[in-house]
Amino acid sequence: MSRRSSPRAAVCVLAALFAAQTFQRAAAADQPWLDPHRSPEERARLADAAMTDAERMSWLHGPMAIPLGRNVKLPKDVLISAGYYPPIPRLGLPEWYETDASLGVANPADLRRGERSTILPSGLATAASFDPEVAYANGAMVGAEAWAKGFNVLLGGGVNLTREPRNGRNFEYLGEDPLLAGTLDGEAIRGTQGQHVVSTIKHYALNDQETQRHTINAVIDEAGLRESDLLAFEIAIERGQPGSVMCSYNFLNGQPACGSDFLLNKVLKQDWGYAGWVMSDWGAVHGVQDAVHGLDQESGEQIDKETWFLKLPDEVAAGRIPAARLSEMSRRILRGLFAAGAIDHPAKRGTEIDFAAHAEVARRAEAEGLVLLKNRGDLLPLTAKAKTVLVVGGYANHGVLSGAGSAQVLGVGGPAISLPVNAENEASSFGRVVYQAGAPTVALKQAAPGPVEIRYDGGDYPSQAAAAALRADVVIVFATRWEAEGADVPDLTLPAGQDAMIAAVAAANPNTIVVLETGGPVAMPWLDKVGAVMEAWYPGQKGAEVIADVVWGKVNPSGRLPITFPASLDQLPRPAIPGADLPPNTAVEAPHPEGSNTGYRWYAAKGLKPLFPFGHGLSYSRFAYANLKVQGGQTMTLSFDVTNTGSREGMDTPQAYLTARPGGALLRLVGFQKVSLKPGETRHVTLAADRRLLADYDVAHHGWSVAGGSYAVAVGASSADLTLTGQAKVTAQRLKP
Ligand code: BGC
Repeated sequence: MSRRSSPRAAVCVLAALFAAQTFQRAAAADQPWLDPHRSPEERARLADAAMTDAERMSWLHGPMAIPLGRNVKLPKDVLISAGYYPPIPRLGLPEWYETDASLGVANPADLRRGERSTILPSGLATAASFDPEVAYANGAMVGAEAWAKGFNVLLGGGVNLTREPRNGRNFEYLGEDPLLAGTLDGEAIRGTQGQHVVSTIKHYALNDQETQRHTINAVIDEAGLRESDLLAFEIAIERGQPGSVMCSYNFLNGQPACGSDFLLNKVLKQDWGYAGWVMSDWGAVHGVQDAVHGLDQESGEQIDKETWFLKLPDEVAAGRIPAARLSEMSRRILRGLFAAGAIDHPAKRGTEIDFAAHAEVARRAEAEGLVLLKNRGDLLPLTAKAKTVLVVGGYANHGVLSGAGSAQVLGVGGPAISLPVNAENEASSFGRVVYQAGAPTVALKQAAPGPVEIRYDGGDYPSQAAAAALRADVVIVFATRWEAEGADVPDLTLPAGQDAMIAAVAAANPNTIVVLETGGPVAMPWLDKVGAVMEAWYPGQKGAEVIADVVWGKVNPSGRLPITFPASLDQLPRPAIPGADLPPNTAVEAPHPEGSNTGYRWYAAKGLKPLFPFGHGLSYSRFAYANLKVQGGQTMTLSFDVTNTGSREGMDTPQAYLTARPGGALLRLVGFQKVSLKPGETRHVTLAADRRLLADYDVAHHGWSVAGGSYAVAVGASSADLTLTGQAKVTAQRLKP
């Protein structure tokens, strides 16, 4: 029987619609900026024109929403968080809150007592998925959760390229390649903003180490910068249209990033036509003149030496800052909020959250992002023949590690353990070492195909762990390295004697599998002695289960490294971290001789062999590539076939690199695609290169320049495993910056 609505119900619906439209028209007549049919630009212009200077100012600077510090005025029912801006009731504009959200809705130091959120795996895991759909789903999940907790602006979406493998914040970012990082960040931003929540892309730009982060001066040539870190921002901004951009703590070529006319006015707003607003990082404003150089909003004002933007009205009165600039700043903020729907759909604190569904988003990100680095003789996946499994170390009988700082998410059901930091530095000032609930020992037992005995040894005494290893069929060592905002790690070792412990265990039992829970690359002096290694990153809400599923073969690993694992520190452009030997807050120069040769590009240019190359990752299946066709013209279009030649269904990520062009050899990722294939199945893949990846940035001509001539490309399984080659002629051309 079909369900029909009664005539009475139809009349009611029509009446309600009519009433709503009449209300909207009435609201629109006297507050036209609230009319959702107008463009965000027009709405921003109208709302700003209706504002008094005091109203305008109330959104141009704001505090951390914590009742601490200078002149902080917060509402009684304040949502403790990174930022708060008051409502402007006369204009129908709601209050708004900001939260950190790189890996979920952050709750550093548990300031919102007991509030828990879905914790995503590290940004590097998402990057390792090479899957834009994963990034989009992550962004949408975090956006939805933030909205339901009362936040309309997310400080998420860090796209700083990994230039320093010891950087304490690598776990938040998306790796070393501008195409990969920019594409995935753009998708995450789109996902978030689809939930009526503004996404912020950060930290603009070249904030590539935590050591001396407030005083360091990154020195780089303009072309190198445009072709690397700025390109990552440019691609992400084009794709995701974030409402706001956060400028960074560091100095760039002598200017503070938040007061850099070059970065903010010239590149972002003029060259890229960016229409949203620039907010400062917390404590990154150096003076009111930063407003002239392109900064639109002073965030976390009580952290700055003084609230510089309070001086704006006086500066305007004295004629040092044009009044029109104040309006422009406010219009940019309004535009970002209107465009994302943050004003039409203000966040509703206390909305119910479907945590079970959100956990599946985190699970998928880790399942696609865990990277199997080594698998001697197909030791993995384990089969029912493994009857006694010894798990060693990493508190694997309790949980999985997470990264700390403003991106610290306290996951649902957790933490399992929260320890004080064993150091005194900026990271320890607001961080704790947090293990997310979900014990790998339990998950391993549950995912096993049959009866299995799981034993545990804490790993503190290598001799004891080795003795236990002798009595097990298989050993799984969980090796951890905690990393955090505010400090870099000093080298590539695993801390607290774990390298020696792994060597001792592997010497006792060759069937040793190492699961790494690290923020970034580590050295592996024991690599030849162990059977298998997987990089699980900080694996998030369902991390333990995904690791167990990979161990037993329920998940076929498909992550590919989004960063190079160096063989040694002397391979790096900066073998010593600039300023590491100096007292905090010393002005330090950080030369960037690598320019746009970030990561694998540097290794290729210098002929260096890393420990594991960018793009590397194994599967339980095998894939073959064939029939490469390359077409030239304005850009290069590649097509080829990928076949699953193995016996299991699995996902592969064929990668296409530019390997030579007029002027010489180089290595640049120009395309990638994640494909899921059944055994024997073939997929035809077509990739078109973004022309900026073929080009040089030409500073003299203020734009990109593609030299005409022959361009060579190669397709393969990683930056160091290229199997198909081809070439084509590309037309000479210039592109706008
Ligand atoms: C971090 C930002 C963060 C902000 C607000 C700063 O210390 O660098 O990434 O968004 O704090 O918490």
